[in-house]
Amino acid sequence: MSNRAQFVTKMGVIAATVGSAVGLGNIWRFPYEAGQHGGGAFLIVYLLCVFLLGIPVMIAEFVIGRSTHSNALTALQKLKPGSSLSKVSYIGIVASLMILSFYSVVAGWIMEYLYQAVTGGLSGHTSEEYATLFSTFTVNPWRSVMWTLIFLLANFMVLRRGIEKGIERISNIMMPVLFVMLLVFCVNSLFMPQAKKGLDFLFNPDFSQITPKVMLGALGQAFFSLSLGLTCLLTYASYFSDKTPLVRSATVVALLDTLVAILSGIIIFPAVFSFDMEPAAGPKLVFQILPEIFQQLPGGYLWSVAFFLLLFFASITSTISMSEISITYFVEAHKMSRSRATGLNTVIAMTFGTLCALSFGVLSDFKVFGMTLFELFDYVSSNIMLPIGGVMLSVFVGWIVDKKVVEEQLTDYGARKITLMRPIRFCIRYVAPLCISLIFLYGLGVP
Ligand code: TRP
Repeated sequence: MSNRAQFVTKMGVIAATVGSAVGLGNIWRFPYEAGQHGGGAFLIVYLLCVFLLGIPVMIAEFVIGRSTHSNALTALQKLKPGSSLSKVSYIGIVASLMILSFYSVVAGWIMEYLYQAVTGGLSGHTSEEYATLFSTFTVNPWRSVMWTLIFLLANFMVLRRGIEKGIERISNIMMPVLFVMLLVFCVNSLFMPQAKKGLDFLFNPDFSQITPKVMLGALGQAFFSLSLGLTCLLTYASYFSDKTPLVRSATVVALLDTLVAILSGIIIFPAVFSFDMEPAAGPKLVFQILPEIFQQLPGGYLWSVAFFLLLFFASITSTISMSEISITYFVEAHKMSRSRATGLNTVIAMTFGTLCALSFGVLSDFKVFGMTLFELFDYVSSNIMLPIGGVMLSVFVGWIVDKKVVEEQLTDYGARKITLMRPIRFCIRYVAPLCISLIFLYGLGVP
């Protein structure tokens, strides 16, 4: 396996994995999910899901990836030939293509907003006009499809050139800048007239609001945001070096990712209440709020251009990682050339991405189980496939993989002593599979 690329530096590992994790999931999806599921109640369950279930599943993915240095399917088969759990890699391939499809639609919205920001179209409007801006744009069949396809094309170009060095390097600079910008916006939001109401909404949980549906939403969001359950981080870990500290990397990635989501909440909710908007507005929430925030800032033009540009980079480092799941599989299991595999990944996502984009306009009446195609893709992948994948991966590492292999990975081949070895293994063996299964079944209303 020595000819497989490796992340050379420690920074490279963390940066690429954080690049995968931090994206629209934190800045677009987290506020809208929290807004729809009662704010504080959602946040509490979300945090529990990240720390008790997310980190163990992430470690499980890292163990499988690094111990085998292979794509997901081969990795699972190497560790346990014939295990039926290796089917999790098919879930990963299908779900990652579904996510890529609807994610590209939202990334396309980011590109449209970047375009609007640059050409001055985002400034000088009233709240109603910002709402209309979003709805006229998303209803327009050509424009939103066009941006979806342009985004996927950009994703394709980056991927075809190999192991994404350039983008990783750019995003190593961009991510910290994005982070600083979020801090500035946070401070700005804290001074808004209804800041207290917004912070109360996010941080003051009304425990009676914790329902099975809220729990499933929070679980799905945690896994979505951490890029878990689809063997995405497994694939990344297959490029880790033997020295990468597995447990510490998982913890750092989860902490940073959660921090960005919370910052995004602190930016959005004070603004939601100050501008008299609905927290439960759904996917359009941040697209209506952000331009209005920028407009009020001194130098709003530059803030908005910079922000949407950075968000574009945050999105593409995420879509690269989800594309890598199917591409690595096509290349290593089907002996396809890298450019063909990348092309196939792109064509599939363009097809379904177009349908998802149209589901805000001409296809808005086409519903399956009461959901538009966009909503269906999002719901099925996040709330069904990610949890199932998480259970399978944690059961695999907790119960099937040789205990010695797991310990060797957790200690980075004996280089480190891990004080929390037993609690970590306990979470991987019992807590994660049981809690995820229970939340999943209750959330779907099974019992
Ligand atoms: N975590 C990314 C975000 O929040 C999305 C993402 C990238 C993802 N790779 C993934 C989600 C794999 C699930 C599985 O924007």
